[in-house]
Amino acid sequence: MPKRKPTLTEPDAAAFIKAHLPLAPVNAIPQIRLHRAQAASGLWRLAQSAKQDFVAPYWAYPWAGGIALARYLLNEPAAVAGRCALDLGAGSGLVGIAAAKAGARQVFAADIDRYALVALGLNAAANDVTLTAIGGDALAGPVPTADIILVGDLFYEAALAARVMAFLDRCAGAGRDVLIGDPGRAFLPLPRLCRRAEYEVTDFGDAGTAARTSAVFSIKRAAAEMSEEHPA
Ligand SMILES: C[S@@+](CC[C@H](N)C(=O)[O-])C[C@H]1O[C@@H](n2cnc3c(N)ncnc32)[C@H](O)[C@@H]1O
Repeated sequence: MPKRKPTLTEPDAAAFIKAHLPLAPVNAIPQIRLHRAQAASGLWRLAQSAKQDFVAPYWAYPWAGGIALARYLLNEPAAVAGRCALDLGAGSGLVGIAAAKAGARQVFAADIDRYALVALGLNAAANDVTLTAIGGDALAGPVPTADIILVGDLFYEAALAARVMAFLDRCAGAGRDVLIGDPGRAFLPLPRLCRRAEYEVTDFGDAGTAARTSAVFSIKRAAAEMSEEHPA
């Protein structure tokens, strides 16, 4: 039976990222630099080493939803200043890094991909901030203790989008604030959301300088919840 290659250890993954994904500024947010994949980064080598548990390296790029939400936090720091924030599906950690730079007291960064946790730790250090990494399926657990949940670009698949929205409903119901950054992916539940700001950004797959609109949303409060506060 062929021997299964071991997965990369965390130090190996960190060394790979440092060596092959150079730090580069984020489009529209030049004060934040991230380790980003390039054509020659050879991400397939990570895939080969990880075999069964390799997932698409979403952490190797800043996504349009995350870019809009990060830009919003830097423009409107009062949203997070002095508060504890959770960057849900953090990927590169871009949103969490922006929250920390905007003055958040503590920032948790959750991702199911263990290489994302390595990358976001390196990215946080490169930007002189601290993120507390949380692994595993963030949507399966209880409502987090954070004051505000930050969601950059998590509505790209139907099943995931449904789970994310159910989780965010639980969080909002327990009194947490929620901010979502999204460029209008197929499964974004627009009727449930209030648009707060929008920006022209470049998504990771966009060629050259092509820009697209990416917006920041909060969740509309349920009619029932509002009528309890303001009975007729
Ligand atoms: C499209 S990327 C967005 C990354 C980043 N927020 C941004 O905007 O650049 C989605 C990220 O969510 C993570 N993710 C997906 N499902 C998750 C789950 N159940 N729990 C935690 N993270 C998850 C993926 O691994 C991936 O890194």
